[in-house]
Amino acid sequence: MQLRPVSVAGTVVLSLLLLISCTTTQAHNITRILAKHPELSTFNHYLTLTHLAAEINGKTTITVCAVENAAMNELLAKKPSIYTIKNILSLHVLLDYFGAKKLHQITNGTALAATMFQATGTAPGSSGFVNITDLKGGKVGFGAEDNDGILSSSFVKSVEEIPYNISVIQISKVLPSNVAEAPTPGPSQLNLTGIMSAHGCKVFAETLLASDAEKTYEDNLDGGLTVFCPEDEVFKAFLPKYKNLTAARKTALLEYHGVPVYQSLSTLKSNNGVMNTLATDGANKFDFTVQNDGEVVTLRTKITTAKITGTLLDEQPVAIFTIDKVLLPRELFKAEAPTSAPAPAPEEAADAPAAPKKKKKKAAPAPEDDDTDAPADSPDDSADVTADDDNGAVRFDGVRYVRAGLALLCVILLL
Ligand SMILES: *[C@@H]1O[C@H](CO)[C@@H](O)[C@H](O)[C@H]1NC(C)=O
Ligand SMILES: *[C@@H]1O[C@H](CO)[C@@H](O)[C@H](O)[C@H]1NC(C)=O
Ligand SMILES: *[C@@H]1O[C@H](CO)[C@@H](O)[C@H](O)[C@H]1NC(C)=O
Ligand SMILES: *[C@@H]1O[C@H](CO)[C@@H](O)[C@H](O)[C@H]1NC(C)=O
Ligand SMILES: *[C@@H]1O[C@H](CO)[C@@H](O)[C@H](O)[C@H]1NC(C)=O
Ligand SMILES: *[C@@H]1O[C@H](CO)[C@@H](O)[C@H](O)[C@H]1NC(C)=O
Repeated sequence: MQLRPVSVAGTVVLSLLLLISCTTTQAHNITRILAKHPELSTFNHYLTLTHLAAEINGKTTITVCAVENAAMNELLAKKPSIYTIKNILSLHVLLDYFGAKKLHQITNGTALAATMFQATGTAPGSSGFVNITDLKGGKVGFGAEDNDGILSSSFVKSVEEIPYNISVIQISKVLPSNVAEAPTPGPSQLNLTGIMSAHGCKVFAETLLASDAEKTYEDNLDGGLTVFCPEDEVFKAFLPKYKNLTAARKTALLEYHGVPVYQSLSTLKSNNGVMNTLATDGANKFDFTVQNDGEVVTLRTKITTAKITGTLLDEQPVAIFTIDKVLLPRELFKAEAPTSAPAPAPEEAADAPAAPKKKKKKAAPAPEDDDTDAPADSPDDSADVTADDDNGAVRFDGVRYVRAGLALLCVILLL
């Protein structure tokens, strides 16, 4: 109960933050901007389908080069995969602000603009850049750099300019680029463990390769998968405890680090809530809570709170993020009651004061396998972490009430 002051302080800070955010202007929304222009609706639709819209909304100082429906239909007639469409459309998002005025007054009459396609790292060499050149008669030509210097498209009109956040323009044609149009391998050809191994999650990747859980990951590649892999030092330190688990529990622990849906970093940053994992089997089992705090995204189990520390891959339908702690599910690692606390199971203790309306826990009668071979693992981190977790649960529910209240306040103020 000494946790109360913390949550109150947190609530006050949050109220202030929310009050501020209630008065500041909102970031741009490309979907909404384009929705006013029916002739650009196909382009708009594919920005959403490829999840590029969310990426565009998360960036400033950019230019979106939209094309009208007929030009999109020409592209779609070739039946490119959604991944190829994503590459092509990301070539149409310039990582600089070009309003109509700047386009017609380019220094020295020509410039190369980096694009979102170039930024994915998928584009080799100079492909991924767009050449913009001022031509005779006030025309502005556009061409992909890897298109033999041919400027096949031209400026049509300005759609919307929000200096210097986002400029949306219309150009006459889809920019042809052999690299962007190359068939993109489907996700099932992705080498998950290879990507993880090469970027600081080798220990986790090797553990996964030696386990049945690897197949579960593979099976989910096409439908959408998000992996949270603990960094090498972290997972290495955890190995002795891992080795102590039964085979079934090892698999469950590894599957607990995968989520059977694609969640981009921007989605994670804008959505708090409970998330099922590959280990989930039935209601409220092996889940964790995603909670973001500004730019920081945390994953909270009843026992640990991990932070996302990096992105190894974030391309529909697969994302891989690194985290700074191993996620310990309460189903495997019972947070042992700290010496001072009385008997109740830690999860009930956490829920009781804050969320009476959540019917969450009722569904789960004492999970039998939890007690039979209850492992002696994790006594050390669980003790201090239990307090942390209670605190988290209280704060979380506080946030919900504060949010609701503030939303009301915002509405009243706006009226
Ligand atoms: C431009 O973007 C910044 C950062 O997102 C935002 O604070 C500002 O309000 C935006 N300006 C306009 C005019 O929308
Ligand atoms: C952007 O606008 C569209 C259409 O109005 C809406 O569905 C979507 O939720 C908005 N996105 C954000 C991030 O606000
Ligand atoms: C413009 O051209 C001049 C002379 O060729 C050159 O020195 C300068 O760097 C160019 N500026 C840009 C922005 O390319
Ligand atoms: C852009 O393309 C034109 C035409 O091929 C070429 O003359 C110009 O040098 C290119 N601009 C840049 C910056 O590469
Ligand atoms: C995946 O990558 C690893 C490491 O780069 C490599 O050893 C392994 O053979 C690759 N697997 C496949 C199926 O390509
Ligand atoms: C592994 O389990 C044994 C027996 O339950 C226990 O004594 C030991 O402390 C455990 N080791 C670790 C690292 O958890």
